[in-house]
Parts: sequence; structure tokens; C-alpha cells
Amino acid sequence: MRDLSPQPGDLEPIETASIDELRALQLERLRWSLRHAYENVAHYRQAFDAAGAHPDDVRDLADLARFPFTTKADLREHYPFGLFAVPREQVARVHASSGTTGKPTVVGYTRDDLATWASVVARSIRAAGGRAGDVLHNAYGYGLFTGGLGAHAGAELLGCTVVPVSGGMTERQVQLIVDFEPRLIMVTPSYMLAIVDEMERQGVDPRTTSLEVGIFGAEPWTNDMRREMERRLDMHAVDIYGLSEVMGPGVASECVETKDGLHVWEDHFYPEVIDPVTGEVLPDGEEGELVFTSLTKQAMPVVRYRTRDLTRLLPGTARTMRRVEKITGRTDDMIILRGVNLFPTQIEELVLGDDLSRDLSPHFQCRLTREGNLDALTVVVEHREGADAAAAREAGVRLRERVKATVGVSVGVDVVPPGSVERSVGKMRRVVDQRPAR
Ligand code: DLL
Repeated sequence: MRDLSPQPGDLEPIETASIDELRALQLERLRWSLRHAYENVAHYRQAFDAAGAHPDDVRDLADLARFPFTTKADLREHYPFGLFAVPREQVARVHASSGTTGKPTVVGYTRDDLATWASVVARSIRAAGGRAGDVLHNAYGYGLFTGGLGAHAGAELLGCTVVPVSGGMTERQVQLIVDFEPRLIMVTPSYMLAIVDEMERQGVDPRTTSLEVGIFGAEPWTNDMRREMERRLDMHAVDIYGLSEVMGPGVASECVETKDGLHVWEDHFYPEVIDPVTGEVLPDGEEGELVFTSLTKQAMPVVRYRTRDLTRLLPGTARTMRRVEKITGRTDDMIILRGVNLFPTQIEELVLGDDLSRDLSPHFQCRLTREGNLDALTVVVEHREGADAAAAREAGVRLRERVKATVGVSVGVDVVPPGSVERSVGKMRRVVDQRPAR
């Protein structure tokens, strides 16, 4: 893999500004954003008044802690356009999340918001090592999901040649990669795995394709998965994070020269980490729930939006902006098994660990069932193509022992042939809950 460190002049001035400059800009923008929300959205006016917090009283970034949180339930309650801060006519585009229960959550963007969004995605692609003139294969889904169109606009702004493939039709994905020779690919990590499998099935050696950088996000993935991807594809794998309520992809992104967590584009999105139970703001370095306040969004400002994503804030390295550590999971994905908390990413780390990954593949699912009154978890994991059957079974036994030793809970492990675990074309469903309702 080539060294893709940025050259002088590649970065925007704010990316390497001093911390004082960044904080001053944030304070000015925070005051604007809070006032904009207060003056134009009835929900925020009522919520701020009820909390006794007024935008004019904000003297310091820490004063933000006096303002109330916003949750997904607030978005649902004001479905579809109740949280817009501009007349609907000024909203140039909406996106929505599917939502597993009830109504989807809807978000809106003015033309300026779309330009801001494209600029942070362009910055993210550049941080990953992309440059004007690159061919970029975009396999994030197009449509109401923010991944496809969000990545698309950023890549165009950067000056890439965009191939808007969207998700699905995996055979064709491979053909287009072979024929169009993209340098960059943007896709969920789980769908990238499906594309790699398909390359191998077609007799294309994934290490010999034109791809140099994969920009993976929209779902949790581990550093072990990074190693797996980099080894199989001989390319850099970097992380991109975002959520529709705050913008879409490009809220935070990893730099290819360090790959040490995701720099939050703090000039547009102000991060806090809170204790998910008490709501108290935690000092940088401590793990908790990530919360964002938009600093520049016009159509739908968000104030202290609770993401449910668990991580910690770390000082900047390759850029001035603070980093978030790779996201381990969402509070919603946490499996509580006989009192022990478990995230699918912990299983991923073990499956892709040094000795097990020879026989076990990264395709796995966590299946929850109930036996009598007790919840049970079975990890259904495929063995590698061509792995020896006895060795694969033995690896399954070791996986069970590892889970017991590291997580501290007994699970079942079912090693199945390649192709048995469902494939995603977007976000992978890692947890399948088959427990009857109580
Ligand atoms: O997934 C936006 C996106 C698209 C990000 C493409 C990156 C690439 P939502 O559908 O609203 O938006 O889902 C947001 O997905 O709260 C996280 O739980 C999860 N997520 C997104 N990126 C990452 C990541 C898009 N890099 C939710 N690592 C977020 C871990 C991620 N989880």
C-alpha cells in the first residue's frame, strides 16, 4: 500500500488551525445555532424555556450543558416537518431513516446545508487519501438513506469521477470495478466483504484490482476487520461516520496517514460525550454516549442530539479537531445476556483474531433465543471457503471458550458453510432476535 499522507496545501486552513481559533469559531457558531433553533422551532423554544436556558446566556462552550437533549422520539413526535427552522419551500431536499418501528424520522436540508454537507464529505474523502481526478465507486445506497447521495455530492465537489452504482447486484459491482478501474470505493464494510467474496468467485484476485482506498461506514466495524480488508484487498481501509439526524456521512472521518479514530469535523458539529444514564457530560477520554449539536445547519438545527453511539473523545492528531474512537456499538445493539453486556463488535474481534481467522470467516450473526426463562445467544459463523471441516469445528469450540473468557458469558457457536449467513447490501443485521415477546 502506498503512503497517502497529505501534501502541503492539500488541507483546508481550519483543519490545522489552532485550538483557540477553532473554539472561538465554535462559540460564535453555537450562539447562532441555538438562537436560530429557539427563534424558529416551537419545540426548541418550549424545551429551552422549560429548562431555563436561553441562547443569549451562552458565554462559553461549556454552557451548552444547560440545554436539554434532543432524541429520536422528538423527531418522531414532530413528524414529518415539525422541526424545520425554515419555511418548507426553502428545503431543497429531505432524507429519512426507515425506522424499525413506527414512523421514519425525516430530516431536511437547504441549498446551503447541501453545500456544507458536500464540503465535509469532500474533506472526508481527502482525509482518506482521495484526490480530484480519482474514479470513485459509490456503493452506498441511493434514496432516502443519506449514504448514497451524501457520498456522491462530496465526491463530485472534490472533483472525482463518480460511479453511482448504489447497493446490490454484486456481480455487476465486480464487473464495474474491473472495467472502470476506480481508485476509491465507498461502501458499508459488510457489503465490501460480499463484493470481495464475489470477486473471488469470479476468479478476480482482489489484491490486483485498481482499488487503493476503501471508505467504510454506516455500521460498526473493528480494527480486526480493517486488517482483514487490507490484507484481502491490498488497499487502505478508513472509517467514515455520520447520521442522518446530524447530516449524513461526513460528520467524522479517519485520516489515512494515522488511522487512529475519526476526526469530528468540529467546525460544523459540536461533540459531547455523556453518561447515558445520568446525562452528565463526561470529560474527554471517558467512554459514553456521543451527543451532537449542529453549528451551521439551517433547515433542521439539532441541539444536543443523543446518537446512542458509544465512544470517547480524544485529542486531535492528524488534524486539530478532536477524534472519536472507533464506535464499538449503539446502546440499542447491546445484548444483555444474563446480566452481562455484549456487543457484536466484540464477537467480530474474536472471530477475526489471529488464530481463529484462518478457519472462521467474518460473516457471522448473533442469534438470540429463549430457553425456558433464560435468554441464549448463538453465534452463527461461516467457516472460510476451503477450510478443513474438523479444523473449523475446532475453531468454533475455541471461539466459545474465548467469549467465555473475555466477555464472561456462555454462548453457543454454530459453524456453518460459506454462504449460509444472510448478506447485506447495506447495513448488516448483526443481531437476530428470535425471542418470543414476554
Ligand atoms: O449511516 C450515515 C452514513 C452513511 C455514515 C454512509 C457513513 C457512511 P443513518 O442511517 O442515520 O446514517 O445511521 C446512523 O449508523 O448513529 C451509527 O450507529 C451508525 N454508524 C454510522 N457510521 C458508523 C461508523 C448513516 N463509521 C447510525 N461506525 C449511527 C459505527 C456507524 N457506526
